[in-house]
Amino acid sequence: MTGTQIQTKKRVFIKTYGCQMNVYDSDRMADALASDGYEPTDSVESADLVLLNTCHIREKAAEKVYSELGRIRVMKEEAARQGRQVTVGVTGCVAQAEGPEIARRAPVVDLVVGPQSYQHLPKLLREVAEGRRAVETEFAIAEKFEQLPAATRAQTRSRGVTAFLTIQEGCDKFCTFCVVPYTRGAEVSRPAEKIVEEAARMAEAGVREVTLLGQNVNAWHGVGSDGREWGLGELLFRLAEIPGLDRLRYTTSHPRDMDDALIAAHRDLPALMPYLHLPVQSGADRILAAMNRKHKAADYLRLIDRIRDARPDIALSSDFIVGFPGETDADFEATMKLIETVGYAAAYSFKYSPRPGTPAANRDGQVAEALMQERLLRLQKLVLDQQTAFNRSKVGTVMDVLFEKPGKRPGQLMGRSPFLQAVQVDADQSRIGTIGRVSISGLGANSLFGELVEIPGRPVAAPIPTEVAS
Ligand code: SAH
Ligand code: SF4
Ligand code: F3S
Repeated sequence: MTGTQIQTKKRVFIKTYGCQMNVYDSDRMADALASDGYEPTDSVESADLVLLNTCHIREKAAEKVYSELGRIRVMKEEAARQGRQVTVGVTGCVAQAEGPEIARRAPVVDLVVGPQSYQHLPKLLREVAEGRRAVETEFAIAEKFEQLPAATRAQTRSRGVTAFLTIQEGCDKFCTFCVVPYTRGAEVSRPAEKIVEEAARMAEAGVREVTLLGQNVNAWHGVGSDGREWGLGELLFRLAEIPGLDRLRYTTSHPRDMDDALIAAHRDLPALMPYLHLPVQSGADRILAAMNRKHKAADYLRLIDRIRDARPDIALSSDFIVGFPGETDADFEATMKLIETVGYAAAYSFKYSPRPGTPAANRDGQVAEALMQERLLRLQKLVLDQQTAFNRSKVGTVMDVLFEKPGKRPGQLMGRSPFLQAVQVDADQSRIGTIGRVSISGLGANSLFGELVEIPGRPVAAPIPTEVAS
């Protein structure tokens, strides 16, 4: 290119792996970079800055990052031949766990930033521009939330009518299989007033449903507006007062942190959706002890009973690990029995993956891959049957559906039921961001189908806020 070159905006491509906390962080990074002159792009080829926001939870998740870096290296070299410089950064839990090792293994990487240092991104990018390689893996969670810029109204609106909001980060539980306490650091709760402010800003920008996030979200605690110590239950009551915020959810919870106030919130708070992800991991007491979960299977079942007493229709989901070191056939059968007893609406299950630096990784009794695979398939079949039965039980009922985005086919919208089921409905685009009454008529592979219904005395859908409809 010759002559006058037009200075265009720099473009950032962020690829997100892992849990919802990374999704939230990726958005915060995009917001921080926007004030530094970067606009987001969906095409990695056109990006000046590529960030991989990574996950370290299982071996496969971490290895994916290195194969992606291989592809990005080819692209970066091609761009360099055309005289364009591309900066490559690794953020998230692999960045925290491996630090400078990443740049040694993948020299294409210019920048490594752990999950608690994103507030330093603009500064680190300047270092890279000066020709240095930047690595930052400090634990500074309070600073992160204070110093990262809040999303603007336009940024929030561009992300739709449902939003994640991180209220707690880190973990002190040290389950013996898990890297999170090492990658995310100690448990820290954000102050209540900051959370309420952010949720109110989201609602004002057109968000109808907020999912509160934390590695142990129900370990959240803080001083409330009444000067008292609050837990998640009290915080939910406060958030439910925010005008326009119709729906609240939270994830992920630990069974040991489900207190009375939180269970009461499920009984008394219509805005708190009847869906709870409460991972138990295993149904065998000896495995739960070896995992350091600090409760027995019976404790979990008693807790489920209390939650169902408070909210009988609640949909439950869990995570399960099969093949934890020492898991016998009898232990696995205990897990299957627990699943049968609870009856889940959904569940996520994984083969145990030894993680470097965690206590279980070097234990005797590692379970053979083939046996893990066999157990996983049996467990997944049971869970799928339960999920299908749960979804089928809603056919013929009428449910509130929050319309989120265009559906699978033209003229359809995709919405979510209170139980987090995807529902496809023939409805006009202008209904996005509204809650409609939907009569559920059928069951597909991944979603329910339904029709909007009129209820006497109630409009088909809530009035459409103009900022969402436009
Ligand atoms: N804080 C949550 C879990 C976060 S990690 C909790 O305590 O339940 C998400 C899930 O990944 C875990 O629930 C667990 O089922 C799975 N997981 C974590 N480490 C794992 C490992 N080493 N191998 C296989 N699955 C793992
Ligand atoms: Fe990992 Fe256990 Fe903490 Fe969950 S509670 S993040 S599984 S250490
Ligand atoms: Fe993965 Fe880190 Fe989340 S390891 S699951 S991205 S906390």
